[in-house]
Amino acid sequence: MTTHILRCTGCGDGIAAKDAASNFRCRTCGDLFEVEYAWSEGSPSSQGEVYSASRPVAKNRPNPGALRYLWQERKTSTLSVDQSGVWRFRDLLPIVAAEQVVTLREGNTPLYEMPKCAAMLGLNWLLAKHQGMNPTGSFKDTGMTAALSVAVASGFEWVACASTGNTSAAMAAYAARAGLRSMVLIPEGKIAWGKLSQSMDYGSTTVQLRTDFDGCVRVLNEIVQRAPVYLLNSVNPYRVEGQKTPAFELLEQMEWQVPHHVIVPGGNLANCSALGKGFAEMKHLGFIHRVPKISVIQAEGANPLYQSMQGNGGVALTPVTADTRASAIRIGNPASWKKAVKILASTGGWVEQVSEREIALAKAEIGAEGIGCEPASAVTLAGLKKLVADGRVGKEETAVLLLTGHTLKDSEYTIQYHRGELLTATELAGASAEELAEHKALQHAPLVLDASADEVLRALDASAKVMA
Ligand code: F0G
Repeated sequence: MTTHILRCTGCGDGIAAKDAASNFRCRTCGDLFEVEYAWSEGSPSSQGEVYSASRPVAKNRPNPGALRYLWQERKTSTLSVDQSGVWRFRDLLPIVAAEQVVTLREGNTPLYEMPKCAAMLGLNWLLAKHQGMNPTGSFKDTGMTAALSVAVASGFEWVACASTGNTSAAMAAYAARAGLRSMVLIPEGKIAWGKLSQSMDYGSTTVQLRTDFDGCVRVLNEIVQRAPVYLLNSVNPYRVEGQKTPAFELLEQMEWQVPHHVIVPGGNLANCSALGKGFAEMKHLGFIHRVPKISVIQAEGANPLYQSMQGNGGVALTPVTADTRASAIRIGNPASWKKAVKILASTGGWVEQVSEREIALAKAEIGAEGIGCEPASAVTLAGLKKLVADGRVGKEETAVLLLTGHTLKDSEYTIQYHRGELLTATELAGASAEELAEHKALQHAPLVLDASADEVLRALDASAKVMA
């Protein structure tokens, strides 16, 4: 914990980790912090100056060649910190003592080729990094292992988060592993059942508040200021540290070839900034020579960043009342929007919005690759279609979709889609005949038949004819 300081992303103030406020907001300007190391770009010691007493002492600058080798080596180790796809990169993370690391061997997620989607888009190469393949089924595990380990190191007994589902499941699991008490605040009736069941199973005090996600955040901010409860929402800069490691892992999986584009869903807008930080660190340390363009995709009904970029170039953000079936990103007042604006600007990426119809179709297309994801993750493919259509993503460029959540999260959505019961007549009204045919070709409603081999074979015959 002495290896870094916290730097305010608003006013630039640097503080010791132990001096952070319980809501992780800067006491001077109210903005969010970022973890800064002695080797970070812009830090005094990385420019040869010596850090003051409250700052980390300049150590040897990490050596890319040595670290690449070490990170590979650790994959063959039996130690839990080496097997974790986050702590494997601990040389570039806040150091906590090995016995305080809380890990479920997160990370190490697959990078899949998406040949059917690539062909549909006319792209040479399309990849998907499936963060839904983490222990609790979402990318949140990579951030949670880091921040929960810091909570342990800081001596907290209670941890808490507000969540649209995935954060709550991740926090509950890691708290259970650490033997900490946890409380989740979730909007009543607005998260997928699978997620609610996880946090109960992991022993969390699960509170359904009669409000939306943004209302849960408001209540929690008050709680952490009134009680010794450690806040595990993504305003916590250690969450971001864990969530930057998929950038390292992706580059490793691509043998250090940098993709042109990384496409990320946007909700509270911490993840795009986390990945942006990861890629920027890789460039600063000399692992790579350029960073990918990071583009953020929002649902039309939960699009405050899109509106802000369109309306005023990201100078101000007006919260919206969020409404989308992609429950994970049903967020109207994103905490990390300023960080996201900076990442869009520094990488040259874009923000796009996609409709409910476009999300549903993209989700089925990702499913048809044998991969699948939750609705919020499918916005990436839906958004990429728009970026390709107007040439912002070139046919010869490499794009990586960040699939943030597992397809089993929201099976009700999937079943309704395949039964043709998800989208309303109004939503379908704007679709072309071609798109309607696409939906139809992808929908596979379950067949209910009598228990007879003849009947089943007849059905098999019929579907073989449809597919021919
Ligand atoms: N995708 C999924 C599956 C998510 O669960 C979330 C956020 C996002 C994308 C958006 O990431 O907020 O960093 O922009 N889920 C939250 C939660 C907020 O509570 O689980 P973001």
